[in-house]
Amino acid sequence: MSGSTDAAFRRQAVRFGAEAVVSEMVAGETLAMARPDVVRRTCRHEGAGRWIVQLAARRPEDMKRGAELVAEAGVDQIDINMGCPSRQVTGGQSGSALMREPDLARAIIDAALEGAGGRPVSLKMRLGWDGDMLNAPDLAQYAERAGLCMVTVHGRTRCQFYKGEADWARVRDTVEAISLPVIVNGDIGSTGDADRALEHSHAHGVMIGRSAMGQPWLLGEVAAHLQGRHDWQAPSLSEKFESLIEQIEDSMSLYGTTLGLRIVRKHISASVDCLANDWTEDERRSIRAAACRFNEPGPLIDFLTRIYQSPRSVAA
Ligand SMILES: Cc1cc2nc3c(=O)[nH]c(=O)nc-3n(C[C@H](O)[C@H](O)[C@H](O)COP(=O)(O)O)c2cc1C
Repeated sequence: MSGSTDAAFRRQAVRFGAEAVVSEMVAGETLAMARPDVVRRTCRHEGAGRWIVQLAARRPEDMKRGAELVAEAGVDQIDINMGCPSRQVTGGQSGSALMREPDLARAIIDAALEGAGGRPVSLKMRLGWDGDMLNAPDLAQYAERAGLCMVTVHGRTRCQFYKGEADWARVRDTVEAISLPVIVNGDIGSTGDADRALEHSHAHGVMIGRSAMGQPWLLGEVAAHLQGRHDWQAPSLSEKFESLIEQIEDSMSLYGTTLGLRIVRKHISASVDCLANDWTEDERRSIRAAACRFNEPGPLIDFLTRIYQSPRSVAA
């Protein structure tokens, strides 16, 4: 998730059994302008799991060039973003704005396939632009004919942004329109949600975004549940702690100490919220605030060690 999850987070998701993780959206034109620092950070891959990079572009030539660059870098799969509702992105006619420009959307799909040079390409989109334009099934049919390998549908329209509830049943229109695997997305935060989303949509799998923040093991838990595996075990408190420390270290090595600590703060806050204990909301708030004040890794890690070793004494 752009501005939210990154390579440091994805590594933890894979560690706990996520089946596949996708990079945050990278603008094709950014790659085409060859900003190596951005490319390196965004596309970074630790060698675990499939390496999937998501591209967004408003011009087919940028999509093609972006796809060529990530294909040259060795990615396993390219995902096209037609789901981002941000005005900054839709104003430029990329992200979900492409859903109301079907000709351009089709050209972007063709361009991604051309640039990918035979590597698998998938598509992430919404139900449509708004309630009057639910064209995900049409676009999915084009994607299938063109040669894409998979389609993910977030069960909201662009005009809904993140409001209301994801409409999993509407995703079924896309499932029934094509024979490619379809992944249902939106508001899935537990194994029960995953079951219900699949039941309503008839999709082949689920994608989880926001709910994984602070609990990267959720993806492995849901994957094991859907595969009927009973060997999955919830991580212990010390495994959760170890994972958070590794993510902090990865974040610092990715962005440098100062920026890395700032960027990983939202994950620390989310982790505090996901810790199993009996804190009150006030206690959680003060712990989150305290954890976000550190500008040096040593004191931050000492603080987190105390939280994870003896949660009540820190909250008191
Ligand atoms: C802050 C933020 C950034 C996001 N960035 C991306 C992105 O880069 N690419 C993408 O496909 N979806 C992005 N999304 C959308 C999510 O992937 C997902 O489709 C949406 O949040 C609904 O699923 P969820 O309820 O599981 O989060 C983003 C969402 C949020 C809240």
